[in-house]
Amino acid sequence: MQRRDFNRLCGGLLAGAANLSTSAMANTEPYPRSGLVYDDGTPVSVESLEPGTSCVFSYPYVTTPCFVVRLNTSAKRRDNWQGGVGEDESVVAFSAICSHKMSHPAKPISHINYRADKVSFYDRSGSKQEQANVISCCSERSVYDPVNGAAVLSGPAPVPLAAIALEVGAEGQLFAIGSSGADQYERFLTKFGFRLAMEYGVTDIRARVGEQTVATLAQQFSSQQIRC
Ligand code: FES
Repeated sequence: MQRRDFNRLCGGLLAGAANLSTSAMANTEPYPRSGLVYDDGTPVSVESLEPGTSCVFSYPYVTTPCFVVRLNTSAKRRDNWQGGVGEDESVVAFSAICSHKMSHPAKPISHINYRADKVSFYDRSGSKQEQANVISCCSERSVYDPVNGAAVLSGPAPVPLAAIALEVGAEGQLFAIGSSGADQYERFLTKFGFRLAMEYGVTDIRARVGEQTVATLAQQFSSQQIRC
């Protein structure tokens, strides 16, 4: 990490320390702090997110998509994961890059989506399950549990989605401050770089997001959402 990034991270952590509802875990890779905003510049707060909805935002690179999800339930801190932020611990964020073959939300279509409704799947013991509040990748049917750190519930995904650490600022705005887990960013950028440059309209696919990153409702980010 560059010194400039490190200094900004430390400054952000110190400034926000008194107001945080949740802080990053020790295992979090500290990427620069970036405030989530809607495309009109309005800050994204816990209250602005409807329960059962998700948005897509770029972090930590301008071309690496993540989900921020307002769950219908709380997500408790556990092991190496910070849990949900907000008073009801319902807001979580994860990389939207599937840990299997890196399926991800693209502008024309997304095979990986947060589902507030019940999804049917076979768990790892072969038993049929139905569960709401999951992230489902229909490419080869991996299912993740965002209430439990995006643990793998079903399918070929080898590991959980990378977790994005969130802070709640003094005014209630959500900030992304780091990433933990198997993030795959470099592999993703190498594999999809050419297409990402065109889709996001950037020349440097490895540019970090700035002080703000735009969050778009998932159903608006991708023209078509595949549900299975
Ligand atoms: S890429 Fe998601 S299950 Fe294969």
